[in-house]
Amino acid sequence: MCGIVGYIGERDAMPILAKGLQRLEYRGYDSAGLAILSNGTLTTHKRAGKVADLLEHINGETIPGTLGIGHTRWATHGAPNDVNAHPHESFSRTISIIHNGIIENYSALKKELSKRGYKFRTETDTEILATLIEDIQKNTGAQLEEAVRLALNEVIGAYAIVVISDAEPDKIIAARKGSPLVIGIGEHEYFVASDASPIVEYTKNVVYMNDEEVATISRVDGLSIKTIRNQVKTPYIEELELNLEEIEKGGFEHFMLKEIYEQPTSIRDSMRGRLNARAGTVSLGGIKDYEKKLLNADRIIMVACGTSWHAAMVGEYLFEDLARVPVEVEYASEFRYRNPVLGENDVVIAISQSGETADTLAAVQLAKSRGATIFGICNVVGSSISRETHAGSFTHAGPEIGVASTKAFTAQLTLLTLMALRIGHKKGTIPESRYQTLLAELDRIPEKVKETLKTDEKVREIAETFSSVRNFLYLGRGYNFPVALEGALKLKEISYIHAEGYPAAEMKHGPIALIDDDMPVVVLATNQSAYDKIINNIHEVKARNARIIAIVSKGDTVISEMADYTIEIPATAEQLSPIVSVIPLQLMAYHMAVLRGCNVDQPRNLAKSVTVE
Ligand code: AGP
Repeated sequence: MCGIVGYIGERDAMPILAKGLQRLEYRGYDSAGLAILSNGTLTTHKRAGKVADLLEHINGETIPGTLGIGHTRWATHGAPNDVNAHPHESFSRTISIIHNGIIENYSALKKELSKRGYKFRTETDTEILATLIEDIQKNTGAQLEEAVRLALNEVIGAYAIVVISDAEPDKIIAARKGSPLVIGIGEHEYFVASDASPIVEYTKNVVYMNDEEVATISRVDGLSIKTIRNQVKTPYIEELELNLEEIEKGGFEHFMLKEIYEQPTSIRDSMRGRLNARAGTVSLGGIKDYEKKLLNADRIIMVACGTSWHAAMVGEYLFEDLARVPVEVEYASEFRYRNPVLGENDVVIAISQSGETADTLAAVQLAKSRGATIFGICNVVGSSISRETHAGSFTHAGPEIGVASTKAFTAQLTLLTLMALRIGHKKGTIPESRYQTLLAELDRIPEKVKETLKTDEKVREIAETFSSVRNFLYLGRGYNFPVALEGALKLKEISYIHAEGYPAAEMKHGPIALIDDDMPVVVLATNQSAYDKIINNIHEVKARNARIIAIVSKGDTVISEMADYTIEIPATAEQLSPIVSVIPLQLMAYHMAVLRGCNVDQPRNLAKSVTVE
């Protein structure tokens, strides 16, 4: 969850760390800090609040020094205050460390270290690790790298850490297990970060660290990598595909709005080279080698969290409908702990924007250990989940910075549609003409999404009417049921309005009791197959005086007459409708949040990448 950044080179570290922290802030934003090592002296500043609060506290002062570390935190152990903010120092303040993850056995380690006379200043697990490293150095005389390695052998849990010491002022030690870490290699300089966003401005050459690796970066000897069991590894240098413009706001007030508006492009990019509607083909290079497993699967299990779980639910409808294979959709966090029945003919599809979600990663590892074949649908190249899976496809949505997922969701739906169409076609479960029609329609989706974005102003006006309500209900049927869930999640997470998504017909089994004139109801009413049923559901809601906001297909006159507010979107095939119908719901959540003065891109208590379970 937290963001970490380190620098060693010839420039002043401070501005690089400050900018890096701003880029990583989406990962966690309850406190921030940095430490610079100069002439053998460590200078540390840390503050509760945003990176801006830290920089204000530093008050424009540039701390000289060409080596330093910075951290932006999403609290796990200890309240988000100045003291618990990273970096943390060891007992004698010689070692400074930043950490993303959780040291699960920290209390046993703390007890042991306390017995040896060490005292602690914070409530964090990270401080324990700093002092453990110091203790190992004291007892063994080991250099920093060796001491870090030995300490990590005693640690249970997840970590990405960067460690510096005033005794070795020309070195940075970095290590990872379970939390991401990437090293940027420039001319006489190195960068370490949770993702490539603080690095891309300076170099495109990167090394993605693997689990249980420890990197030593020295001004004299450059970069070397070992495992925590002391095996030497050769760093594998890759070229970054990321561009600087992709991680900037580009004139939009918020990343979320920019990302909503990027969807015609991100959906097209996710199809590029894969969908050829004219030739009537879908090719997915990343799954080619394991495609037989998908074709012969007894069952597909989709694992994911949050918005990606909603994409999985649409995936269930798609694969069952088009490829006639049974699908189960699982919350990764439940799946990993409930001893699931899995066999060789089961295929697991893990869906994750970040590719780092701890529960999804653990679900993948569990399924793999039980012999299932794992496919991944991830957005971040080099991410842990994408490297753990047997095969998969990247959604080419580009970096998603707003904590509320938008363009990653529609890109995931695009990929799931392509997969289901290809498998269904190969299995012969979709009639040829239907297949060709769906390919042609999928090719038109980016244009339809662009058209849908024109509803923005109307959605904003509707949001104005409802911005002070306390509850919202979202209803949908069939392919639009997961969209109702997603609309409710978007509203909850960024505007802090309580919202529920429900299958429209299920509403009468309970939630209908909540409905009155103070409970606006958003109805997704674009389905052709259940049109009459949706009309019935609208009647049921109207009879209880709810105000209705209906999302309808262009030209719909019946539902438009019944609803209090109507948002018209282009008609499309039912299988593809979630990609279009979610757009006004994203816009609605966005405008509600802005009108209520909420922090759209960094909603309270959340973080973009949930690397703790
Ligand atoms: C989405 O708006 C949320 N912030 C969150 O639910 C997210 O989808 C979830 O944490 C899963 O993340 P992932 O796709 O990176 O695995």
